[in-house]
Amino acid sequence: MLLWVLRHDHQETIVVTLKSKAELEIMYRANQLVARILSDLRAMARPGLRTIELDQFAEAEVVREGARPAFKGYRGYPSTLCISVNEEIVHGIPGKRVLQDGDLVSMDLGVVLDGFIGDAAITVPVGAISDKASKQLRVTEEALFFGIEKARVGGRLYDISSAIQWHAEKNGYSVVRVFVGHGVGRQLHEEPQVPNFGRRGRGMPLKAGMVLAIEPMVNEGTHEVRILSDNWTAVTLDGKLSVHCEHSVAITEEGPWILSELSATEASVSQDMQQQTARGLHVGNIHA
Ligand code: MF3
Ligand code: CO
Repeated sequence: MLLWVLRHDHQETIVVTLKSKAELEIMYRANQLVARILSDLRAMARPGLRTIELDQFAEAEVVREGARPAFKGYRGYPSTLCISVNEEIVHGIPGKRVLQDGDLVSMDLGVVLDGFIGDAAITVPVGAISDKASKQLRVTEEALFFGIEKARVGGRLYDISSAIQWHAEKNGYSVVRVFVGHGVGRQLHEEPQVPNFGRRGRGMPLKAGMVLAIEPMVNEGTHEVRILSDNWTAVTLDGKLSVHCEHSVAITEEGPWILSELSATEASVSQDMQQQTARGLHVGNIHA
């Protein structure tokens, strides 16, 4: 997600690129690739795996499909995935960290396919997680869907934000303020910024052809964050649990179109991939 940029000048013009039907179809393909790889990663996440192994798998798949990683090289970010475990909120760099039973792992993937970005994130349990963690995961996923439900022509931008904030806070959680969702298209970060907090009925009018990456970050305790010395990993200031999930959503006359929701076709590709991986046939370097 984008670092929230405060705008002091409210007269400033914000340029939002609207996508044509043909462009949305390309973005759909990019996001379906993201969704399929995230589905594979969900199946792979288990105790004992190093986070770098997930990153290597994701990168090999992105390249094999003729796409390229969107985050790698972005402002110097070194990896294909962002992997953020437990108190890590977002932008965790894959590495030697070994997944443990009970961990809650956010995996965020961006790709570029035929000039357009696909961007989505899931949080998955590793082994058996606590009831407390599983409730926070459920509420965050629900908050995302309540937000998506507001991504409609005739609505306003902060209808999305307030639906997310309301659901998270009603359940006793806080929403992160310094990182926000974003418009997405040819660029990873386009206008408008999509905060996970705000007032219903405010913000710009929503138009058909907008594509928004909606990505709640929901904390167990304080909403405040701290950045680790790697200059990327954002963690909760109080060390408590954080959950993050993201969909890229197109606003259409027919309602919200979740570009990154796994289709039946891609789900079966994912199943094949998982069977191949289980039989050791897959040629990626995950077993290296
Ligand atoms: N999904 C995140 C975003 O939308 C991930 C960005 S990681 C970065 O911004 F390295 F590309 F910044
Ligand atoms: Co994003």
